[in-house]
Amino acid sequence: MIIESILTTLDALGTANFAPMGVEWGEREIVIKPFVETTTFHNLRDTGAAVVNLTDDVMLFARGAISTARFPTLPAAVVPGVVLEAACSWREVEVRSLDATPPRARIVTAVAHQGFRREFLGFNRARHAVLEAAILATRTHLLPAGQIRDEFARLQVIVDKTAGPREREAMALLTEYVRTAPAGRPEPAPR
Ligand SMILES: Cc1cc2nc3c(=O)[nH]c(=O)nc-3n(C[C@H](O)[C@H](O)[C@H](O)COP(=O)(O)O)c2cc1C
Repeated sequence: MIIESILTTLDALGTANFAPMGVEWGEREIVIKPFVETTTFHNLRDTGAAVVNLTDDVMLFARGAISTARFPTLPAAVVPGVVLEAACSWREVEVRSLDATPPRARIVTAVAHQGFRREFLGFNRARHAVLEAAILATRTHLLPAGQIRDEFARLQVIVDKTAGPREREAMALLTEYVRTAPAGRPEPAPR
């Protein structure tokens, strides 16, 4: 099962990087699959450690998807790394094996420590809709603009029905981003 997380890693100088990443979940082992051009991949390769942050604050996924975001953190307990203040819980992981075959690496990590900060509230359709919108925002260069527009319109209905202010704000940020993003693949010709 893939769980959506905010992965924090450090570069060799100790600068933190924040990236939304879907990880293959396991209690003892977590598999991370970053594209080889990402900072996350370079940091994992260079330092051998990461923190997998679980949060219900979808604003972090929205901002992480469209910008080089930075968020408040605390030091990790056992690996060189940082924990998000906004995390509900987290896993600190160490790299066990790394397959760097492009386009997407496969990095098997062992869970060295886990921590808990606050309750993860539960299912919410708007939060899932914002997650899907965040993923679409990372694919504007791959998908036809019409498809992105249609999917955003469908997801906006769900946000309008079930969101709180934070989800509405995150969706608005993503909508503005895709509205001005460079065009993706051309629309299919009408038949
Ligand atoms: C919910 C979600 C899940 C994502 N999962 C992955 C993933 O598993 N691997 C990956 O390379 N990018 C994934 N991305 C895209 C990265 O977050 C994005 O490319 C980011 O800019 C990489 O940041 P970095 O270069 O700072 O590591 C995901 C994005 C979102 C919104």
